[in-house]
Amino acid sequence: MKIGVFDSGFGGLTVLRALMDRIPEADYLYLGDTARLPYGAKSRATVARYAASSAKFLVSEGAEFLVIACNTASALALDEIRDAIPVPVLGVVETGANAADVNSTTRDVLVMATAATVESHAYAIACAGRNLRAIEKACPLLVPLVEEGWIDHPVTAEVLRIYLAELMEQAREAALTPDTLVLGCTHYPLLREQIERAVPQTLQVIDSAAVTAAQVDRRLAGAHNRAAAAGPTRFFATDSVAKFRTLGSRFLGRPIEAVDLVDLGS
Ligand code: DGL
Repeated sequence: MKIGVFDSGFGGLTVLRALMDRIPEADYLYLGDTARLPYGAKSRATVARYAASSAKFLVSEGAEFLVIACNTASALALDEIRDAIPVPVLGVVETGANAADVNSTTRDVLVMATAATVESHAYAIACAGRNLRAIEKACPLLVPLVEEGWIDHPVTAEVLRIYLAELMEQAREAALTPDTLVLGCTHYPLLREQIERAVPQTLQVIDSAAVTAAQVDRRLAGAHNRAAAAGPTRFFATDSVAKFRTLGSRFLGRPIEAVDLVDLGS
């Protein structure tokens, strides 16, 4: 079974990591559309065009199942992606909302995400369908900081402090008692430690990676050979492969040997 994993950049590696742990026998293809990132600051039509061309590329390379490891593309373009390719597609907004559903006792959750994801209200809608109230906060500076590798950086810490203070204030104004903070962008788990340090201990920080991997595992049950040996994971990027190798290895938690540069247009 060949599983394609797609994000605008490095963020989706957090999902790939969970998939490799959960389904080690699968073959993986990962595409980071780094030349056209950030998606989170773009319109629905542009995100849909970029995401559909990225999905088609992964299918042309042999992907038989696609994980859209990008909340922005999942929130804005899941239908367009499904229409563009002939293989099953799983997006991470639904799985993120599932994770919140399992975790929350107070049924009030906070969501940090890109501007485009927040404007779509995909999380608020998915949460409402699970009887959860959600406050969404756009955090547009975080993706560029992560892509720059500024994880333990004082600028990132200050940006996080400001975003989180504003989010907590929004929750207070809406009289919510949140117990769960959803990282609604796959780049944000790379800042998890910094975020956990900055929020009250009563707030549990969660992301969709493990839940997504578990859901893929269930969807593929019986469709792949558990005893198969996985081939090497193939990585593709639409911009600097050297940067992808260096930062990507750090974010994936294992070395990335080779990255192929692909041109998906503009
Ligand atoms: N990692 C993507 C997400 O989950 C977004 C990054 C971007 O803005 O391109 O939303």
